[in-house]
Amino acid sequence: MANLLHDIQDVLLMGPGPSTVPEKVYKALAAPTIGHLDPYFITIMDEVKVQLQTMLGTKNRLTIPVSGTGSAGMETCFVNLIEPGDKVLILINGVFGMRMQDVATRLGASVDTLEFEWGTPVQLNAVKDKLAASTYKIVAVVHAETSTGVKNPVAEIGRLVAQNGALFLVDAVTSFGGIPVKVDEWGIDALYSGTQKCLSCPPGLAPLTFSPKALEALQARKTKVPNWYLDLTMITAYWEGNTRAYHHTAPINMIYALYQALDIILAEGQDTVFARHKAAHQQLVKGLESLGISMLVAPDYRLPMLNSVLIPDGVDEAKIRKNLLQKHRIEIGSGLGPLAGKIWRIGLMGHTAREESVNRLLCALQKEL
Ligand SMILES: Cc1ncc(COP(=O)(O)O)c(C=O)c1O
Repeated sequence: MANLLHDIQDVLLMGPGPSTVPEKVYKALAAPTIGHLDPYFITIMDEVKVQLQTMLGTKNRLTIPVSGTGSAGMETCFVNLIEPGDKVLILINGVFGMRMQDVATRLGASVDTLEFEWGTPVQLNAVKDKLAASTYKIVAVVHAETSTGVKNPVAEIGRLVAQNGALFLVDAVTSFGGIPVKVDEWGIDALYSGTQKCLSCPPGLAPLTFSPKALEALQARKTKVPNWYLDLTMITAYWEGNTRAYHHTAPINMIYALYQALDIILAEGQDTVFARHKAAHQQLVKGLESLGISMLVAPDYRLPMLNSVLIPDGVDEAKIRKNLLQKHRIEIGSGLGPLAGKIWRIGLMGHTAREESVNRLLCALQKEL
């Protein structure tokens, strides 16, 4: 049987993730696999922790990549912090806020939600009123809602949560690496991300950080963490200290890839990387507008790395996506949930966020429309 890997063609990844992976990261994946307790590998793990702390703006000791995709990061945060009956407030304005609600509910939390129209941000007044009326163990929000392209005001929500005394849990899967994420400054207690968006690494790891306050909550649990694989009380024994204890075999080559991907971003400089995302986004919006295409989200709340574009009337949206992929080797994303058939999601994430990607897409779109 022919090996299908020989025929994979390069695609310019301009969807909601994964994003284009730089050559250096592929090379890192192909470096020799060594033992997960090899001292050389442990030094690499320690450096990855420092890279993540630097990029997330945190001194949190517990800052590691969880084995698994972004959803494993979400699950890790909730499963370690929730005990049955705990009160949790989830701010929802898209698919990933809803996923948080599902995860927290399955763990037996008493879940309250505040819902906002998809395509609009979380409203601070509503959060303030809700927090004045009740105390919560956790308040959770998605920073960059990938299903809509909306940026939520995480810093401002953090200030309100601090007054309530709750733990502040943030999804930074799509935001991390493309716009500032300041864990300590914004009062974030638990945060997770993913590798395949603005970090431009293949999917497979979920960077995560827990504040000292979140660790205290973990240590104060009356019940065991109900998931063995994601139990941070055990995982930390592998990621910390002079003697490392086996928990599960680390995805060694994925950690090489993350190490390389973070190194590329830190070498370019985070501010330069953020400016590159913004410039590509502005170029895309201008180009789309000149084709008569408008954006779903109001300018102040737009994410640079995820552009929700209203599909022009009379256009067969699936056919255009298919042609972009088959004829032009460009992937863009469709809408999810209530936005299915109404928007395309154009990603400018990480390595993809460049002038040449935008030019290639605009040119192809013009032909296909
Ligand atoms: C905001 C957000 N949270 C969570 C996830 C889940 O991540 P994964 O698909 O890597 O499990 C995604 C994936 O697109 C996301 O965009």
